Formats: sequence, C-alpha cells, structure tokens
Amino acid sequence: MKIVSIVGARPQFVKCAPVSREVRKVHEEVLVHTGQHYDYLLSEVFFRDLGIPAPDYHLEIGSGSHGVQTGRMLAAIEEVIAKEEPEIVLVYGDTNSTLAGALAAAKMHVPVAHVEAGLRSFDRRMPEEVNRVLTDHCSDLLFCPTGTAVANLAAEGVTAGVHLTGDVMVDALRENLPLAKERSTALADLGLSPKAYFLATVHRASNTDDPAALRAIMEAFSRLDIPVIFPVHPRTQKKLAGYGITPAANVRVVEPLPYFDMLTLLSGARAVLTDSGGVQKEAYILEVPCVTLRENTEWVETLEDGWNVLVGADADRIVAEADAAGGARRGHSARFGDGHAAARIAAIITEYEP
Ligand code: UD1
Repeated sequence: MKIVSIVGARPQFVKCAPVSREVRKVHEEVLVHTGQHYDYLLSEVFFRDLGIPAPDYHLEIGSGSHGVQTGRMLAAIEEVIAKEEPEIVLVYGDTNSTLAGALAAAKMHVPVAHVEAGLRSFDRRMPEEVNRVLTDHCSDLLFCPTGTAVANLAAEGVTAGVHLTGDVMVDALRENLPLAKERSTALADLGLSPKAYFLATVHRASNTDDPAALRAIMEAFSRLDIPVIFPVHPRTQKKLAGYGITPAANVRVVEPLPYFDMLTLLSGARAVLTDSGGVQKEAYILEVPCVTLRENTEWVETLEDGWNVLVGADADRIVAEADAAGGARRGHSARFGDGHAAARIAAIITEYEP
C-alpha cells in the first residue's frame, strides 16, 4: 500500500517517528513536511535525533495567518496527492498541517487516517480544537489514544473506523528515555540538580497573544523560589519582546530544546509549568507534577490522581500550585497505553479495505 504521511510541526515529528518505522516494515511511505515549523531547533533536530527518514516533499509553507497557512498547505498537499496517488493519507494531532492534510485527501476521495483522534478540550476558541473536530469528521480510520477519545467521538456520532490503540507518544517516550539519559548533558550544562528547578513552556495563542496573560505568567515565574528553566518558543519570544516583558533573574530563558534534552529536563523537574498538550501527557507518564497554564485540557486523564492541575494564566494560582507540587499523589497507571500503539496502527492500516 502507498501511504502519504503529513507532518509539519514539532509534536508531529515525535508522533510520526514510531509510526513511520512500523508502517515502513510493510508499506511504501511518502513523507511530506509542510514546513509549518522551519527553524532548526523546531524541526531538523527532531528528524536527526529521532531517526525520521528525510521528507520526500518539503512544501516550505512557513508562517502566516491561519487562513493563509492552511490554504497554502491545502493547495500544495493536493498536488502531492494527485502525483503520488496514495491509498491512504496519514495525519497526526491537531495542527494546521493536520487539517490541511485531512481536508485535501478527503476532497480527493483518498481515505484519511488520523493518529490521536477523538481529543477534545471543548473550547472552540482554540485553533487546535477546530482542527481536531474537522479532521476527525473527515477521517476514515481514527486511532484513539484513550477510551475518553473513543467516547468523545461516539458522542459526535463517529463510530465507524474508530480504534483504541494507545498513545504513540508513549512508544516514543519509552524508546527514547534511555537514549536521552545516555546522551543528554542538559542537566550538567545548565548546572541543575534533580528536583531543584521548574521547567516551563508557553506557546499557546490564548497566552501569547494576550499581553495580560503573558505578563501574569511571567510574574508568577518570578515569584518562584527555585530556577525556572524556560525553553522559549519563537512565537513567545517575539511576543515577550513586543510587549516589553523581561523575564526575572530566576527565569532562565533557553532556546527550544531538542527532544532528548526536553525528556531529561522534564524527568528531573520538581514540576512542569506548561500550556502544551504533549508536555502534560509526558509529565504524567514520567510521574512529574504538572501545572497547566490553561483553563481546560484535552488530556483529562492527567487530572486524575492529582498529577495535573489547571490554573489558567492566574499568577496566584500558578504560584500556589507550583509551590504545592511536591505533595503526595493518589496513584499512577498506564492511562495512555502500553507503548505498542504504533505497531497496532500499522496492523490496522494493513488490514484496512476502503
Ligand atoms: C503549532 C500548533 C500547535 C502546536 C505547536 C507546537 C497550530 C494551529 N498550532 O503552534 O498546536 O502545539 O505548533 O509548537 O497548528 N515560528 C518560528 N519558527 C518556526 C515556526 C514558527 O519563528 O520554525 C513562529 C512563526 O513565525 C509564528 C509563530 O512561531 O509567528 C507561530 O507558529 P505556528 O506554526 O503558526 O504555530 P505554533 O505556535 O508553533
């Protein structure tokens, strides 16, 4: 079978690495990089570290408003599909690259397979939520990481082609954590001792595009009494400069981290403060407390047992929950699967008959 896989943004590179490897054991995969993320540290370094094959097509779409970015991708992906004539188009997660890939394929009557289907934050103001809903509703194969995702789809009347596979990020994490421990020198490079620092990431539009929210988050970081390691996303970097916000002395702003350094710093952190979806989940799997800088989450399982807490962009709540992060949790379980999601996905694709 010929499969066209579409990736474009950092979290998708992590997700596609294990799936691509399994799929290529049996099928021909044509890998398309939309170019949504183009900076070396957001893109190339992930291909290198995760051993992802070089893309067959690099569409070089780059940044733009949602309409411009998604529209350009749609036109360019359509051309690739017309040329390659795949039997399946595989998309990942919830970015504009996901939606563009799914929409281009569906309009050309090519079956769409969606990895990380069924996630819902129930907040339609998030661009990712719109991407999730629309992608799921034009997908033929829906690979759900959790039972919650299966139930979310059923509530929208989507039951055909739905499979509970577990989460491919568990596959990626299990495989790469030992490598990260072996290869990453991030803790020593930054002079950090385990559990004596917080790790923070902020890039969600609701936080970066609202000066009051970003200011409150940075103020909260400044009130924490241990270092806050803050690998800053280019979007956030630009906004901080634009709003004239200077991080306090205990906030150590560093470049976006390669995957191995991220896993190392995350697993050693006292807690992570983040608005990322993937990081909330990685924190849960690594048993690191998470303080989520949002009012909702699509990863509701992380809230159970007290591993994650939603605090929005409220400085007092952020500080209180970060300070409480050493507290006892109520247990931990394999809520995101057994680390064999990619093999299951490849097997389902192999058996698929449109
Ligand atoms: C995108 C995804 C988000 C995901 C995130 C991971 C959408 C709607 N959002 O958000 O779900 O969690 O990726 O990082 O698809 N930029 C650079 N260099 C780059 C890429 C982007 O400087 O390599 C800048 C752009 O100029 C732009 C901003 O970052 O100003 C936003 O980039 P964009 O890809 O649109 O969205 P993300 O915020 O990265």
